Amino acid sequence: MGDQEFGHFSADGREFVFTRFDTPRPWVNYAWNSQMLASVDQRGRGYSLYRDAEGHRTIPIRDRLVYLKDLDSGRIWTAGWDPVQMPFEHYRCRHGLGYTRLGCDFDGIRCEFHVTAAVDYPAEIWSITVTNTSDASRRIALYPSVEFDLGGWTPYGTVENYSVCRMVGDRLLLALNQSSERPGARNHAWFSASRTPDHFETRKREFVGGAYASLSAPAGVKSHRLTDTGAAAEDFIGAFQYGLELKPGEEWAGEFAAGVCFDEAEALGFADRTSAATFAQGMDAAMQRTASFDRAEMELPDPVWTRFFNIWAKQQLSFLGDFTRVYLTGFRDILQDAQALCPYAPDQVRRSIIATLQHQYRDGSTMRGWCPDDHHRYADGGVWLAATIGEYLRETGDTDFLREQVAFRDDDSATVWEHLLRALDWFRKNLGGHGLPKMYFGDWNDSLNIGREGRGESVWLGMALVAALKETAAIADAIAECTIAQTCRADAKTLETHLEKYAWDGEWYLRGFADDGSSVGGKADGEGTIFAEPQSWAVLAGLDPSRWAQISKSVDQRLRTTYGVLVCHPPFTAAQKRLGRISTMPPGWGENASAYCHVTAFQFVADCLRRDGNAALASLESILPFNPALPVAESWLEPYAFTNMFRGPDHPRPGATFKGWTTGTVAWALRGLTHYLLGVRPEFDGLRIDPVLPSGWKTARLRRVFRDKVFEIRITNHATDASESETRLTVNGRPHAGAVIALDEVPDEICHVLAEICPINSLHEHRPFQTERRSSDADQEPQPVHG
Ligand code: GLC
Repeated sequence: MGDQEFGHFSADGREFVFTRFDTPRPWVNYAWNSQMLASVDQRGRGYSLYRDAEGHRTIPIRDRLVYLKDLDSGRIWTAGWDPVQMPFEHYRCRHGLGYTRLGCDFDGIRCEFHVTAAVDYPAEIWSITVTNTSDASRRIALYPSVEFDLGGWTPYGTVENYSVCRMVGDRLLLALNQSSERPGARNHAWFSASRTPDHFETRKREFVGGAYASLSAPAGVKSHRLTDTGAAAEDFIGAFQYGLELKPGEEWAGEFAAGVCFDEAEALGFADRTSAATFAQGMDAAMQRTASFDRAEMELPDPVWTRFFNIWAKQQLSFLGDFTRVYLTGFRDILQDAQALCPYAPDQVRRSIIATLQHQYRDGSTMRGWCPDDHHRYADGGVWLAATIGEYLRETGDTDFLREQVAFRDDDSATVWEHLLRALDWFRKNLGGHGLPKMYFGDWNDSLNIGREGRGESVWLGMALVAALKETAAIADAIAECTIAQTCRADAKTLETHLEKYAWDGEWYLRGFADDGSSVGGKADGEGTIFAEPQSWAVLAGLDPSRWAQISKSVDQRLRTTYGVLVCHPPFTAAQKRLGRISTMPPGWGENASAYCHVTAFQFVADCLRRDGNAALASLESILPFNPALPVAESWLEPYAFTNMFRGPDHPRPGATFKGWTTGTVAWALRGLTHYLLGVRPEFDGLRIDPVLPSGWKTARLRRVFRDKVFEIRITNHATDASESETRLTVNGRPHAGAVIALDEVPDEICHVLAEICPINSLHEHRPFQTERRSSDADQEPQPVHG
């Protein structure tokens, strides 16, 4: 994989193997179950987050640290190198799918420190082994430790007022938040061991050695023994001490768990489960979570891409599907991730759609997010519903879902279908002076706040609404709601007319109109003269195709960089009340002209829809973590995860990221790749196969489970110009008319498909095959067939 400076992938691609620990910033992996999320970097450090049944999050474990000490030489080191930072003879770290395995060799002592999540209770699990690899007997002290943090639910003063930490029995350290603010909640944190320690510490001050001491040279570890005392109303640490006497070749092994509990009894129950087998069970569960990845498995021309999209992109999507943006549950974020999850986890998608509908109000408007509740009046929530509901229905055929009753956030309940229709009605009632949707606090672009006074309009939202209306019409067709289908199509048409009339700025579309009526994202605007979102969404929504070439030229000239498309340009340089938060961000950061991977992924799908495979490839490649144009030494990005943004060219650190994993990018990139570049996407009664390959991709494969069938699809590309090509299908050895393979045409469980992309003229010569170009011709009569 591109940059090998800090590590490489294992032969099966399922682990990233670090060769250096001094990565440009901590490179994070996640281990999780339904309640607990452990962030583990290449040093083994990171937090553990707990999410309760209602979705509230706390971070009861701030950090994990495993100290070792040679009792004879007095030398101290940490299993994950940092914070003591001794020079290891050998360091190992493998980030796997839901686990991390660290190891180090130092001074004849080998330590393995592995982390995963517990099978089904709120805890992370560690396995630690210490082996004497020297030829002399050794006396080693081992100190597995966590930093507890009981903050979070403390309206009256700090949590220290109510907290105590103590040993319970001989293998459980319990940190209790006795505040009664959230009675019955899992307010308490614990750390337990499978083996009884010799000593323990609960007081952070004693462990590190005073108010100003640091974790890099903790006095507790330096001293003869930890103090075996409890703590109250102060900062806590949970540290165990073991004295190991190891003969040459001898190994010591123990397992540990850290998590949250309702009370002492529950913690004791969890601690009892911390046995020698706990880690293996957690690893099994992590493996299970990847079992559905093969429901859409591809083989791309570059094995590096194949590995990334088959394994790590799906792991990232799975993580986002379970924990959304970690810090917040966002209405639009859940729906975009869920849409992409349809092939892999349709039941989860169903639950995710219901969860969002429960945060829609009776009038059809929606919340921005919850846990914690975000009451800013973002307008866009409802516009995402149609796409995800439609995709779920196409994937599963489960149209009964539309009849399921779901409560609104403000009481009352309605069917899923009615929720969707009310979302559209809300937009119809909230149009502004140009007939475009009002933006209120914001839309997809959280930081562009041009409609807070209730007059500003969003061009992007208008386009997204066109797409939603068309998709709702398609769903209505599928369930024979003809009047609704007609109304939606008519409204989409009217909206398109307004967009073409008021939002076209000559060479690209505007972004919107601010409360004072001024345009945003137009040539006359000085700063932020062009925004990316309306340019890709003009294509996604199917606006005037005669403008597509000009739009993409404008994007290429003004927004495209080798590491993604900028949200807008030139950046805003001074705060403006008219624009809101975006203008207060430094140039090149966030929505203010960073290279935003999420908008680049929109562009990628738009490029596919424009049938420009080469542009699509360039868009997708520019946001990959192994983009050859942006080495990780500059991007700082984990080589196995998408990021949300690269700092833009106007930032002092262009190209640098601040985190990976949490982004809507992966949903659009992965789904775009399977559904639009490879072109294999479900319809209500069949599977459409309409690839748009880049000219350099001569062949690709996709194995796709759809309903109860397996489609083995091979795509070959004989075209030189994608825009002048057509695709012919051979299904189970017989030429096939049209681009949609109807399910009732496929008798066997396995269906073999050959999709040949050919120059149009070559097909005209053959002409026996009915082929796909631009739109579906599935309904047309099959043509005579030549073998
Ligand atoms: C962040 C948010 C996402 C939003 C985007 C643009 O990535 O998670 O919901 O659309 O920023 O503002």
